[in-house]
Amino acid sequence: MDESLKILVTGCRGQLGMDLMAYLSDNHQVAGISRMEVSITNRAGVLSMFKAVRPDWVIHTAALTDVDECEGKPGLAMAVNADGTENVARACKEIGAKLLYFSTNYVFDGVKGSPYVEEDMPNPLTAYGRSKQSGEERVRSLLDDYVILRIGWVYGSYGHNFVKTIVKLGMEQIRDREAGRSIHSLQVVSDQIGNPTWTIDIARQTEAILQSGLFGLFHVAAEGETNWFDFTQMIFNSLEMKVICDPCTTDQFGQPAPRPRYSALANRRCTEAGINRMSNYRAAVEEFLKIHRESLCG
Ligand SMILES: NC(=O)c1ccc[n+]([C@@H]2O[C@H](COP(=O)([O-])OP(=O)(O)OC[C@H]3O[C@@H](n4cnc5c(N)ncnc54)[C@H](OP(=O)(O)O)[C@@H]3O)[C@@H](O)[C@H]2O)c1
Repeated sequence: MDESLKILVTGCRGQLGMDLMAYLSDNHQVAGISRMEVSITNRAGVLSMFKAVRPDWVIHTAALTDVDECEGKPGLAMAVNADGTENVARACKEIGAKLLYFSTNYVFDGVKGSPYVEEDMPNPLTAYGRSKQSGEERVRSLLDDYVILRIGWVYGSYGHNFVKTIVKLGMEQIRDREAGRSIHSLQVVSDQIGNPTWTIDIARQTEAILQSGLFGLFHVAAEGETNWFDFTQMIFNSLEMKVICDPCTTDQFGQPAPRPRYSALANRRCTEAGINRMSNYRAAVEEFLKIHRESLCG
């Protein structure tokens, strides 16, 4: 079923929204809405936007994604990620559109120790995780034709992400050293494990799921798992950057919101359905760095 679809993307100026729009536009008619047009907390505004576009599918990426900010503002996190998602789901129901909602690996508590499959029970540690889980529940309770796609540790060329931040910090250290200034070793957390996943791979998998005719919950992550410290070393080796960095623990790093220690996802459902399009995380990040080397290191 490789038909061209009419798709509306929420959060179209976000990291994932930008790449989804670009990728899906090759084969589909794609429109986007951002917070500049309407906040998803505005139920009537969302409905009127959806009525104007009348898409077959809404891909809902808009969210409050800063985990530490959500921890400090749990009410706002719920208002955007849960109530906002309910507004999107209600508008989909009203116009007869199908909904694909992006959720997160942070719905899990991280104690399992092996890749989470779709059947595992969520137990979020954070306000962000709770708000996204609540978003999932709203979607399930309102719609029959929905897809919930859990992702994690996302990077791409737009917005903020780990890969861009670590390369920037590494470049700053190199420049300081070259200028004769004192330098500090980069401290990188080594006790959190997950699957760093490229937005382009997520976009490819999203299209495969839309075209499969399957509904329900899917985990979508790069194949293979790593920790932030090993991933950092891989990135610096690949870019031939000589950066002094040392592993530290999550507790030593000290972020406001707790993080699940183990949040790797298994692409079980896509694999069983024969539609797993995800690359290994090493191959994906090598490709990403090859494409973006100049802008990242410039
Ligand atoms: N990034 C990750 O590692 C990760 C991991 C797991 C799951 N996810 C999920 O994947 C999705 C996309 O994430 P991302 O990395 O693309 O995040 P992002 O770059 O922060 O994009 C989210 C977008 O949502 C918009 N937004 C925030 N509040 C809004 C509101 N009230 N109304 C309308 N739009 C609003 C933001 O607009 P502004 O720019 O104006 O704030 C932003 O453009 C999210 O649902 C997130 O929960 C992401």
